[in-house]
Amino acid sequence: MNLRTKGAFSALLLLAAAAAAEVPADYLRSLDAAARSDVAGFAGFSAARGAAWFNSSNGTDWSCATCHTDNPLAGGRHAVTGRTIAPLAPAANPARLTEVAKIEKWFRRNCNDVLRRDCTAAEKGDVIAYLTSLKR
Ligand code: HEC
Repeated sequence: MNLRTKGAFSALLLLAAAAAAEVPADYLRSLDAAARSDVAGFAGFSAARGAAWFNSSNGTDWSCATCHTDNPLAGGRHAVTGRTIAPLAPAANPARLTEVAKIEKWFRRNCNDVLRRDCTAAEKGDVIAYLTSLKR
């Protein structure tokens, strides 16, 4: 892609993002840049990798699916408090993944609950790719 088509392509992506109230484009770009510097040969986020990761317990008792279920188009339930949790997938809940501060707050909390550490940029990007790939 030459620079001009690349520019037009990014403008289109930004327009598409604004129209559908999608994940903020600058947030995705910063995750992508961080993943590229963390992971040698990083070739972009993967919805399939995100799905596997979302459902795996990574060595603790919990996975993301413990509270959000293995179907993020449906609502979940908090494993400890029993409170219901609205669906995580934007196709079922358009307010999801639209506010960087909120996304980061819950990544911090939930990643520490599930993994006992922060999630990496690659893990966050993969799970966002997974959640946004789901359609009703
Ligand atoms: C112990 C229960 C629990 C687990 C385990 C859990 N979550 Fe959550 N998650 C919540 C609750 C509670 C909220 C906030 C309530 C709400 O927004 O409905 C939330 C919110 C979120 C949000 C906020 C999205 C937005 O824009 O509103 C994201 C993203 C998220 N979780 C991702 C994850 C991921 C990824 C994992 C696995 C690493 C995970 N969660 C594991 C309970 C959990």
